[in-house]
Amino acid sequence: MKILHGPFTQILPLTGMPLKGALKDDQLQVISNGGIVVENGLILAVGGFETLRKQNPSAQINEIEGDGVLLPGFVDCHTHICFAGSRAKDYAMRIQGKTYLEIAKAGGGIWDSVTQTRAADEALLTELLLKRIERHLSEGVTTIEVKSGYGLSVEQELKQLRAVKAAASQTSATIVATCLAAHMVPKDFNGSQIEYLEHILTDLLPIVKKENLANRVDIFIEQSAFNADNATTYLNKAKQMGFDITVHADQFTTSGSKVAVNVDAVSADHLEASGDEEIKLLASSNTVAVTLPGASLGLGMPYAPARKLLDAGACLAIASDWNPGSAPMGDLLMQAAVMSAAEKLSTAEVFAGLTYRAAKALNLTDRGNLDVGMKADLQVYPVNDYREILYQQGRLKPTADFFD
Ligand code: NIG
Ligand code: FE
Repeated sequence: MKILHGPFTQILPLTGMPLKGALKDDQLQVISNGGIVVENGLILAVGGFETLRKQNPSAQINEIEGDGVLLPGFVDCHTHICFAGSRAKDYAMRIQGKTYLEIAKAGGGIWDSVTQTRAADEALLTELLLKRIERHLSEGVTTIEVKSGYGLSVEQELKQLRAVKAAASQTSATIVATCLAAHMVPKDFNGSQIEYLEHILTDLLPIVKKENLANRVDIFIEQSAFNADNATTYLNKAKQMGFDITVHADQFTTSGSKVAVNVDAVSADHLEASGDEEIKLLASSNTVAVTLPGASLGLGMPYAPARKLLDAGACLAIASDWNPGSAPMGDLLMQAAVMSAAEKLSTAEVFAGLTYRAAKALNLTDRGNLDVGMKADLQVYPVNDYREILYQQGRLKPTADFFD
């Protein structure tokens, strides 16, 4: 059935905007008194409400009362929300001055979440995941990437990815799964870094492919995880198997972004430690630079050089990194808004980073703006000026149940 939604005080379609580089707010098209025609979940037309009403006399009208700013749904292209348990203990240590790596060495960190996640069964993981997905949906996030990486054995990684698949079938959000079996060498693996990666390539990834559990592979390149050489070998082999590649890069030290660009990864994420050389490299590549302000806020560390990346010409996306350790908050809009004040990002750059540029990081071409033919992933804010959204720094949430 054809539905005309509107009138909206403003519609920001985010169509026809550049994929890479800095953006000014005057590049944002703003349609006043706008409407949008939707059929079978796809956008048929966007424009002035009255014009669309005349052009679509048979359409059912979903009348919007009061102020409303319509945006494409946000795309969170980097999360770790398939986990059990909490790491509040780590956080308390951290705000007393212990570093991420010190906490990991003291028995906290990723391994603690592995232990807690291994203890949960698939049904519990699915339930926990669905709650987090619902929260994201209520905050305007309609596409959510979810990584494994708290299983770290064939059986446990499969359990996580199966939970992701089960949750995906029970929600209106689009879920994109990524295999992060290379999050760290598990403490109970008897062998070297390269042996663990070989084990994943031989014993896990073929099953992931066969069961269609994920078509993306991620690795954490860092002193506490995997080195650049081993990661390159691993990623090239995963690529040959048909996986898209994404990398946890330059979080504390550099080298990951270089690997990401060399293997033509779809994205290089984190980048807090990236310097001029890495910025230049990313800007001249097809790899999306993903900044994760939630991890900077959670760890009390500097943001990735988002302004410099954009000025150098990179495609910059913004994601939450929602995870129990470094980024427990999970409020994507709040994180993006707070970072934009520190990094001096324009509203256009923030909205682009949360929508079509983040879709590019997931290789999704059917969403991220309100063009004709795109998926009708929509969100509405109860204000009369789009600038209110970042101004309220995440406190303003999209109107619930607008399209029910
Ligand atoms: O993206 N950096 C590595 N992985 C996660 C943290 C995971 C954890 O601490 O549990 C991240 O920040
Ligand atoms: Fe992460």
